[in-house]
Amino acid sequence: MPGLVPSVEVVRTDITALAVDAIVNAANSSLLGGGGVDGAIHRAAGPELLAACRRVGRCHTGQAVLTPGFRLKARFVIHAVGPVWNGGGSGERELLRRTYLSALGVARTEPEIRSIAFPAISTGAYGFPREEAARIALEVLRDHAREFDRIVAAVFTEADLALYRDTLAALP
Ligand code: APR
Repeated sequence: MPGLVPSVEVVRTDITALAVDAIVNAANSSLLGGGGVDGAIHRAAGPELLAACRRVGRCHTGQAVLTPGFRLKARFVIHAVGPVWNGGGSGERELLRRTYLSALGVARTEPEIRSIAFPAISTGAYGFPREEAARIALEVLRDHAREFDRIVAAVFTEADLALYRDTLAALP
């Protein structure tokens, strides 16, 4: 019955505007910022975020690290490094799955994180095919939804909103 089974909320929004406990950043291994959602998060959080990332150092592809959210509404940022799409023969699908799992794993280490929002990791500059990325993301998030009060899949475009809704509805 709808409403009883914890699921993923699909929302079209700028992820930096969300009032959740943690937002996930689609970062790169240097953690030194970039364009896309990474740039938006750094702009909204303020320069303290870059300083915190510098203190963390690097983060390997498929892994994730935690910092405060500084000027964001979200108290925390989970910086997760998705794979660059390189044709699909370099383990990209498994790495993307692992990226989402790592971000969830980091969220579990902080008891104050009860609500968490994810962008469509790797689907911008990193070129991961959007349909496949949506399936991987939503499958992992749906399977872990009961561990949190709220999991939001934050999409940026109308096309991704439709894709995510259809993909979520079609998951086995
Ligand atoms: N809120 C939510 N989603 C956003 C936002 C935003 N403010 N801005 C962009 N997006 C969406 C894009 O539409 C895309 O679907 O985030 C998704 C991921 O795109 P990128 O930000 O380009 O991330 P990714 O493909 O993982 O590439 C990572 O980009 O700038 C860098 O430093 C980052 O090098 C890293 C690379």
